[in-house]
Amino acid sequence: MLFDKDMQEILYSEEQLKARVAELGAQITKDYAGQEIMLLSVLRGAFVFMADLARTIDLPMTLDFMAVSSYGKGTSSSGQVQITKDLTEDISGRHVLVVEDILDSGNTLHYLLKILEQRHPASIKVCTLLDKPDRRVKPVHVDYTGFTIPDAFVVGYGMDYAEKYRNLPYLGILKPEVYGG
Ligand code: IMP
Ligand code: MG
Repeated sequence: MLFDKDMQEILYSEEQLKARVAELGAQITKDYAGQEIMLLSVLRGAFVFMADLARTIDLPMTLDFMAVSSYGKGTSSSGQVQITKDLTEDISGRHVLVVEDILDSGNTLHYLLKILEQRHPASIKVCTLLDKPDRRVKPVHVDYTGFTIPDAFVVGYGMDYAEKYRNLPYLGILKPEVYGG
């Protein structure tokens, strides 16, 4: 593809992502058997994962989206997190599964979970495609993790650098010179 030249390495291919997402979906289907769930995703990075994951879960479900402020154009998050788009649905009494692209410092999810818990869901769990535990600043309990990865800036499969690369079908590590690192 056009952007292949900006990649230092392909971390997970389209096929590897697909296989792992299917495993997560099967596990979630099993764990929530007999229940209806609400997938809640954080825009925009999780949109591809959300779409693929939802189609591997064989349960009655609803979906909703919210957005929080994040990096701007940099590559590391600030402790300041703000809701820029709230949910449309009421989550009280629902089994909520928060779907995230990547758990990094933990600032975003730590803050978000606190807010969501105040809305009295029946249960709340977290599914993240990627986890970068080396960078954790705030503790976050995760129920489902796709892959645990080293501390590198990744793009593709929904994830961006300065809003670009979200459309790559694979997950790649960007060459540091691309973001001036
Ligand atoms: P945290 O608040 O530091 O945990 O950041 C979480 C959010 O930052 C993720 O949901 C991503 O949107 C973004 N993010 C963190 N690391 C990366 C990365 O390597 N590439 C792209 N986005 C990232
Ligand atoms: Mg995100």
